[in-house]
Amino acid sequence: MYGKTSQILNKFWNTIIVGMIPLNIAVMFCSVMLLGCADTSEKKIKIGLSISSLRVERWPKDRDHFVAEAEKLGAEVIVQSADEDERKQNEQVENMITQGVDVLVVIPQDSVASAQIVKAAHAEGIKVIAYDRMIRESEPDLYISFDNERIGYMQAEYLIKHKPKGNYFLLGGDPGDNNAHLLRKGQLRALQNAIDNGDIKFVADQKHWAVKWDPLDALNKTEQVLTQTNNQIDAIVASNDGTAGGVIQALQGQKLDGKVLVSGQDADIAACQRIVKGTQTMTVYKPIEHIAKEAAQAAVALAKGETVQNADQTINNGTTDIPSILLTPFQVDKDNLDDVVIKDGFHTREKVYQTE
Ligand code: GAL
Repeated sequence: MYGKTSQILNKFWNTIIVGMIPLNIAVMFCSVMLLGCADTSEKKIKIGLSISSLRVERWPKDRDHFVAEAEKLGAEVIVQSADEDERKQNEQVENMITQGVDVLVVIPQDSVASAQIVKAAHAEGIKVIAYDRMIRESEPDLYISFDNERIGYMQAEYLIKHKPKGNYFLLGGDPGDNNAHLLRKGQLRALQNAIDNGDIKFVADQKHWAVKWDPLDALNKTEQVLTQTNNQIDAIVASNDGTAGGVIQALQGQKLDGKVLVSGQDADIAACQRIVKGTQTMTVYKPIEHIAKEAAQAAVALAKGETVQNADQTINNGTTDIPSILLTPFQVDKDNLDDVVIKDGFHTREKVYQTE
C-alpha cells in the first residue's frame, strides 16, 4: 500500500514541477490522499454481547436482531451464552474484556452476581448496558428493558377482571432475575383491592418461584399445589409463557386446562397456540426487534463516547439511579392476538392457528 503511494506521489510531484495542475487542486488532492490512508486504519467498534441463556424462545431473536443492527452500524459483535450459569457468564465476560471489546451488553443470569462484570469492565474503562434485566449492587451505564412492573400488573389485572373471586396461585420467575421481582410487585398491585376485600385467597404462600424459569420446575410446583389444595384453584398467575406451559401441563393432568385461568409473557408460539385453543388465557407481547435495535444503537453510541438517545428516565437499582430506556409491552388475548402479534410479524397466522 505505502510503496504504491510513494510512486503515485513521485509521479504527482513530477507533474507539479512541470506546472501542469493549479496549486489548490494539488493541495486538495494531497488531503484526500491523507484522509484515505487514515480511513482504512480506523478501528471497528467491538461489542461484547453476553447472554444468560438461549433456551427460552425469545433470546435467539434478541441476539439476531441485535447483531443485525450493530453490524448495520459498522460494529462487530462477540456473542456468548452462559447456559444459565452466572459464574460461567462472569468468566466469559472477563475473556471478552481481554479480547478488547469497547462496550458490553449483558443479559445477566443473576442480578447480583453480575455486579462483578460491571466492576471489571469499569476498571478497564468499558461501559456496560444491562439488557432486559437490571444489574444490581453496581452502576451499569444504561438499563434498557420493557416496563416489567407494568407487565406483572397486566398479567394479574387480566385474570382478576375475568375471575374477580376465588383461589389464586402466584408462580414467580427465577429469583435471581430482577425482573421476576418487578413482575411480582406489579401482580400484587393489580390484586390488592381483591385481596383487601377478601374476594381472592392465595392457596399457596408467595414463595413459589420457577428456578431458572424452568417449565419443568413450574410443572412440579403446580402439581404439588394442586394436590395440596385438592385442585381448588381458579387462577394461576404465571410470569412467562415457558413456565405457563409447565403450569398448563399440570392442569391437563387433572383435566383442568381451559377451566383455570393462566397468564403468561413473551408471546411464544406455543403460548399463542394455547391462547387460540383456550388453555392459556393471556400473554404479554414485547416487540423484541425494538429493544434489540435500541440497545445496538445505544452500545455504538456509548463506544463512541456519545450520549444515548432516548435514555429519558432513570431507574434505581438499589445502589443508584441508572439512566434507562423503558419500552411498552402489550396485553394480548385471543381477541387482539392477530392485531398485536401477527400484524407485527412476530408469528405467522398459519403458525398460530396451526393451519399450515
Ligand atoms: C425475563 C424476561 C422474560 C422471560 C424470562 C425468561 O427476564 O424478561 O421475557 O422470558 O426472562 O428468560
